[in-house]
Amino acid sequence: MSLMEALNGRPAPSLRQQMREFYQTSETYKKLLKHHDTAYLKTFVTLVSGHARSNSQLLEVGCGNGIASRMLAAQGHRVVGTDISPLFLQEAQTWQDQQLTYQIADAIELPFPDQHFDLVCSNELIEHVPDVEATLQEMIRVTKNGGRIIVAGPNLCSPITSVLDLLRLIAGGQGRPIWAETKKQAFQGLIRNIEYYFQKRSLVEPNFVFRQPDLENQIIGGDADSVYIASPIDLERFFENAGLSIVKLSVGFGLKGRLVAAFFPRLSPYISMVIDKK
Ligand SMILES: C[S@@+](CC[C@H](N)C(=O)[O-])C[C@H]1O[C@@H](n2cnc3c(N)ncnc32)[C@H](O)[C@@H]1O
Repeated sequence: MSLMEALNGRPAPSLRQQMREFYQTSETYKKLLKHHDTAYLKTFVTLVSGHARSNSQLLEVGCGNGIASRMLAAQGHRVVGTDISPLFLQEAQTWQDQQLTYQIADAIELPFPDQHFDLVCSNELIEHVPDVEATLQEMIRVTKNGGRIIVAGPNLCSPITSVLDLLRLIAGGQGRPIWAETKKQAFQGLIRNIEYYFQKRSLVEPNFVFRQPDLENQIIGGDADSVYIASPIDLERFFENAGLSIVKLSVGFGLKGRLVAAFFPRLSPYISMVIDKK
């Protein structure tokens, strides 16, 4: 099976445990997370702080090395950063103070009471969870009525990404590992993403599609470990069906990003969705 190929059905139940162990023990992945520094995380932090009331009680789910949570706390919010991996949170746990704490927690079982936070956010998390509905449901549960949820990360179903892949390869540039290594693969990705777009838009329920993650250390990177082929249309359907309202389907950054977000919010290469819980 090609690495970008979708699974027929749901991931095997044993995969959840395998992925948990992977994030809890992979030193290679921890090294990759070093690239997620303040410059890398600025876009996400700007997205969250731009949509948070001042002095919010804020939860970040799947916070990795914890840097984004620290940046948000530095802006005056009270922040809890959670991740499934004690290994990734090791250093962050030394930064804790009254404004900022970290907890090891699986996104499908958040150790907080119902309606506890003003704002719940995640960056580059949902594509790594085999139980994406349970994760989103937990995010909703711990958000206060009148509170907000922000989900960010790659749109792994973006036809725009596929067109850019194809153009780059035709111009003699480098392929994108896993998803578009050759022109043929980029073209197949484009067709697949166009099909997903029309199919998902025609459905009332979200249609979460999964892939077999590759957890081999030597090829980690480029979202090789992703398991859910993340789509903003699935999120839109899920949150609307749960009775929440979408404030912004896509926020977008930079001039090009904002134009794409304004005119083609579901096609944007980056998911940046703002949702309100009534
Ligand atoms: C690509 S990293 C992103 C980390 C961070 N949000 C960032 O943007 O730098 C994915 C993160 O999701 C975490 N993760 C994966 N599955 C999880 C789960 N079930 N519950 C909580 N965190 C999880 C991993 O440990 C990892 O830190």
